[in-house]
Amino acid sequence: SILIVDFGSQVTQLIARRVREAGVYCEIAPFGHSWAAYERMKPKGIILSGGPASVHWEDSPRAPHAFFDAGIPVLGICYGQQAMCEQLGGEVLAHDGGGEFGRAFIKVVRESALFDGLWQVGEKHQVWMSHGDRVERLPDGFSVAAQSDGAPYAIATDEARRFYSTMFHPEVVHTPDGGKLLANFARHICGCSGDWTMGAYRAAKIADIRTQVGKGKVICGLSGGVDSAVAAVLIHEAIGDQLTCVFVDHGLMRANEAEQVVSLFRNSYNIPLVHVDASADFLGGLTGVTDPEAKRKFIGAEFINVFEAEAKKIGGADFLAQGTLYPDVIESVSFTGGPSVTIKSHHNVGGLPERMNMKLVEPLRELFKDEVRELGRELGLPEAFVERHPFPGPGLAIRIPGEVTKERCDILRRADAIYLEEIRNAGLYDAIWQAFAVLLPVKTVGVMGDYRTYDSVCALRAVTSVDGMTADIYPFDAAFLSRCATRIINEVKGINRVVYDYTSKPPGTIEWE
Ligand code: XMP
Repeated sequence: SILIVDFGSQVTQLIARRVREAGVYCEIAPFGHSWAAYERMKPKGIILSGGPASVHWEDSPRAPHAFFDAGIPVLGICYGQQAMCEQLGGEVLAHDGGGEFGRAFIKVVRESALFDGLWQVGEKHQVWMSHGDRVERLPDGFSVAAQSDGAPYAIATDEARRFYSTMFHPEVVHTPDGGKLLANFARHICGCSGDWTMGAYRAAKIADIRTQVGKGKVICGLSGGVDSAVAAVLIHEAIGDQLTCVFVDHGLMRANEAEQVVSLFRNSYNIPLVHVDASADFLGGLTGVTDPEAKRKFIGAEFINVFEAEAKKIGGADFLAQGTLYPDVIESVSFTGGPSVTIKSHHNVGGLPERMNMKLVEPLRELFKDEVRELGRELGLPEAFVERHPFPGPGLAIRIPGEVTKERCDILRRADAIYLEEIRNAGLYDAIWQAFAVLLPVKTVGVMGDYRTYDSVCALRAVTSVDGMTADIYPFDAAFLSRCATRIINEVKGINRVVYDYTSKPPGTIEWE
């Protein structure tokens, strides 16, 4: 296995993901807990992540020095490179307002085990830089393996002691060969076998869940989406009828969603499911609420109310299970001393009321969406379900800017169903990460037949993405969009204008709120 020491980078989880993709088991430990993790795991190699700190700051993080005496390979990335070089006797230059961010090309100047069989001396390769400080003098035993004008120590290694370091981020997709570099490190340099699979992940998580839960009772909220369904099936496999699944219909679902989920669980899996129709409470409580964060907080709190009430009915539950994914975590909470700020309180992470007296079980917390889909397949969920577009916990409430009412939900449901039907008919559903309609609190004038209309605007959104962290718009052809617009305006009373959202993420987010 590989131990990843987290210095607080936004993309530490991507390192883990690349290592998993190489078929190698890994765990991430915050730097302060990394020694304990090391003793428990006895890893074959260590990766030091990037991070927002400077080695010149007081109390900035370091790896336990013993890692460098353990006789196993160590790879330092970005801040990890700086910390490692400084710890081994090199020198790091504080940044002077400069730094280097984005695409860069580096030239290979000598051979290294890190890119053995992948890169040749003299070749140039694209990498992704994001750093302020940089290493100024290498520790004894280190020498440069690849460089560019802006990055004299793009790759510096001590091949004898098997210490490797990169100034760039091999874990992001903008370093095209980065996954292969990390695979080289984990498999060839550290000697991990590369036969770890999602099946092994499933088994490991089941063991974790059993340890965490013991004989306790778990209540799991199903939202209709892939994540909570995968979490529920996994937990059910771990603890059987200690799990109670609750599907809360908040009245903010898409058309036919509730029926599909209920049928999947009750008929296909034979997992008992409590179906709570709480739409009156949710919609009632949303009256007059227009602020996006206030909507999320209210909906999150209301979910907990329902779960608590259901938990009481089964004589009390000790744990609440959720299908929280890694992007929800990183975008919702400010990391351990890290720079990440709250973008949205995805209700299943940041918006949890503190009074909640159940502990959380979140078995998908380190996975990305496509990994969850793979785990879903591993658990035997039907392909059509696994491939469903993501749907946010607060549902249509965050697709209706302004006040949410039943009437507006009904209008949006009809428009959304037409849009998705057209997408399916055109065979585009699987090429799109997420597509949905948004009902705007804007009325415009139109003319239909001989009448003046004064109705709402509907925006259509469709994006491609790998993990929801970044996204591009889906480039429909004009004929497709005009077909959708015509159908929606003709068939949905209350909408008289349709627009298409051309915003990528960043700078936009996928949902409008
Ligand atoms: P954003 O809008 O943040 O969305 O770019 C990224 C992904 O997360 C989903 N999303 C949510 N999921 N609760 C959820 O469970 C939420 O509050 C929430 N907000 C956004 C969104 O649909 C997209 O897939």
